[in-house]
Amino acid sequence: MSGGSLITLKTQPSDAANSANAAAQQQQTANGAAASSAQNVGGGNAQEGTRQNSLQRIQQRKQKVFSLPVSQKLAKLSMYSACQTEGCRCTGWKTPQENRHRDVESSYCPEFSEECRNVSCRHPLSAHIAHLDGISNSSMDELLGAIIDMENLFMSMQRVEDEDTKKVYLYLFRLLRQCVLTRQHPTIRGPLGDPPFESPCITKAVLSLVFYKFNHLNPTELQTMTEVAKTFLNFLNHYNFESPSARRGDLNHEDASNYKINYTRWLVFCHVPAFCNSLRQFETSLVFGKTLLRTVFQYMSQQLKKKCISERDRFPEDKRSIITLMPKFLEGLKAELLKDNSPIWDPNYRPPNAFVIQQRKRHQEAIPATNSGSSVVAANGKRSSAGEPVNKRAKKDVLERITENQDDLPTEVVMRAMKAVSESKTTNKAEILFPVNVSRDENVKAEEQKRAIEFHVVGNSLTKPVDKQTMLWLLGLQLVFAYQLPEMPREYISQLVFDTKHKTLALIKENQPIGGICFRPFPTQGFTEIVFCAVTMSEQVKGYGTHLMNHLKDYSIQRGIKHLLTFADCDAIGYFKKQGFSKDIKLARPVYAGYIKEYDSATLMHCELHPSIVNTQFIAVIRNQSEILKELIAQRHNEVQKVRPGLTCFKEGLPSIPVESIPGLREIGWKPQMRPARASRPLEEPSDPEKLASAFASVLQSVRQHNTAWPFLRPVTAAEVPDYYDHIKYPMDLKTMGERLKKGYYQTRRLFMADMARIFTNCRFYNSPDTEYFRCANSLERYFQTKMRELGLWDK
Ligand code: COA
Repeated sequence: MSGGSLITLKTQPSDAANSANAAAQQQQTANGAAASSAQNVGGGNAQEGTRQNSLQRIQQRKQKVFSLPVSQKLAKLSMYSACQTEGCRCTGWKTPQENRHRDVESSYCPEFSEECRNVSCRHPLSAHIAHLDGISNSSMDELLGAIIDMENLFMSMQRVEDEDTKKVYLYLFRLLRQCVLTRQHPTIRGPLGDPPFESPCITKAVLSLVFYKFNHLNPTELQTMTEVAKTFLNFLNHYNFESPSARRGDLNHEDASNYKINYTRWLVFCHVPAFCNSLRQFETSLVFGKTLLRTVFQYMSQQLKKKCISERDRFPEDKRSIITLMPKFLEGLKAELLKDNSPIWDPNYRPPNAFVIQQRKRHQEAIPATNSGSSVVAANGKRSSAGEPVNKRAKKDVLERITENQDDLPTEVVMRAMKAVSESKTTNKAEILFPVNVSRDENVKAEEQKRAIEFHVVGNSLTKPVDKQTMLWLLGLQLVFAYQLPEMPREYISQLVFDTKHKTLALIKENQPIGGICFRPFPTQGFTEIVFCAVTMSEQVKGYGTHLMNHLKDYSIQRGIKHLLTFADCDAIGYFKKQGFSKDIKLARPVYAGYIKEYDSATLMHCELHPSIVNTQFIAVIRNQSEILKELIAQRHNEVQKVRPGLTCFKEGLPSIPVESIPGLREIGWKPQMRPARASRPLEEPSDPEKLASAFASVLQSVRQHNTAWPFLRPVTAAEVPDYYDHIKYPMDLKTMGERLKKGYYQTRRLFMADMARIFTNCRFYNSPDTEYFRCANSLERYFQTKMRELGLWDK
């Protein structure tokens, strides 16, 4: 049983009912709308057509009501408006008995003087609309829209069998009723919480999945996979979830209670608002996350697969690849849903900006074609466009929404940098950030893409037949290992390569194994042991060894393994170090001792795998990122390059100045918050320099006028105090401060405070504590601090 039983239609003249109950009696419902979700999604176009028609008819009804004469609109409103007569508790004008069969949405318009049928009211219709005097047309239509939604909700409530769903409809019905009465916008508050309910949302995780699992595909396939992902999201966004009671048997206790909450949220925030546009609608994939998807994935994906098969012929030919790739995508998503630590569900995981931007760009280029393709499944699932509420917020593209707020820099800036990088003929391939031979990596990947080389995980089996090809490859691999590892006894190599607990990642060229890594996974211990690793002599130092290892890392990560361990002999240590292995073992010994084969003359090495990294893409990603970064830096450099006069404050005696006071620093993007806050750190400067200067002027003025300021008003002259400058290297006074202020020297509070402090320290240094000067310095200093505090310029 689904929650999708919302559609009601008004096809008969109203008898001017003034309650939803009466409205219910006078309306007919759309025939198939209350069908189960299973039928609705997978079951057929006829039903979907009915649903679309019903949605359209709801809209048509609303349009018709909006275009009625004002008097009729007011009459309709009066039926849901409380009588304004003092003491009267009637909540809606009721049509007189003799006119009950007449429809205010058709030709009937009661006189405003007609009395309400309600015996405890009996007040005229005008008393029910007195408060609507002067109401604008748009507000009136808004209220009428809410009334129609309410009537439809009421009807749906009558028809729905599931008790949980019924309760939600009732709640929403009451909410709308209350909002119409009080003329307020409906806001859903309460224990359901506010959307989004989980982070990351399904949309974001699905985009991450495309990058994480399929970024190795060629650009066309990757683009198709993105279309597949969007088709999936569309399907989800128009999916009718089953009620919790229907799922009772197949969910465990925890999942069942989560599902119940999410189902209610879905009804309230996603499903019902699709029909009742006076409620704010949210998209399922943008507000729900892993918890909901896990509970509905199995059934939903089965339906989607079925739909793909049944709709295949209706797809344009060039878009059939979407259908073909759907099972692969669903498998990938399922695997990541089952894992506890899949990076795609990590709120902090995000595909690199370059990937996101490229996807967005490709998508924009492909918009016309895309529309014809990916929407077909959705259209047959539950496409929203035709029957969508007319004033529904324009839907932004999924990708755009996923990537909103993800870019640190404006997209155009990054796009410009990416364009410059791709156009640059002189790109410096000698990487500074990542000193790996980039062209080697690119060549190997190009060969792989052309299928000139292939990577296969092969192994012997005692329980299943092993095909001839696998056997031949295993034999070939055994030879490669034997040649490249002459110290190893041949029998030992054969024993392990053919051991059923071991597998070998084989590098195949022209159907011959030219390299491989023999390994043994220990899934219970969370690590894989690398036993042998070799590349045929003539193929070495071409990047194959690195790419093999990257494939093994990705293979392990996909199986939930996070550690690689190996005993490397001294010749191999260098190679393993370059592959990210270290002698520093981060795994506790009990995890691997007794499992891994230990060798006396070899060194144990460990490589920790990060589940968010696609190792086979890593070099390319880092290279791209570093090139784009370099380009961004160059662009910024050109924009802000400006030679400024050097700082003079150090010559003038300041031991240090705050970073933010260095001219030009802010212009190149430095922000104060980039520094971690310290307890002793002064308050932030007001962002407006003029404000700051005027605050300093006011403080300086007050200080000058203070009765203890007289010793500090102007510089001490050598004529007055001959030995003064022998003792005081950095003099300061209030007159000099005034001049500095005028010249704009005090860019920050610290500079201002430093000069003022110098006046007092100089004074106390030169004069003894029992002098008037000394006392003046103390007193004026306290006054200065008070003034600064008054203006919020002093540290707490
Ligand atoms: N010591 C130090 N560095 C080594 C190395 C070694 N024994 N063997 C390879 N490297 C370096 C390469 O020079 C290269 O470095 P670079 O990127 O800075 O130029 C890097 O490791 C990987 O090169 P790559 O081309 O990807 O690897 P490969 O295809 O040459 O394969 C081996 C590397 C180790 C598999 C291959 O050299 C081999 O089969 N060696 C003999 C068997 C062996 O020692 N196996 C390891 C222990 S089981």
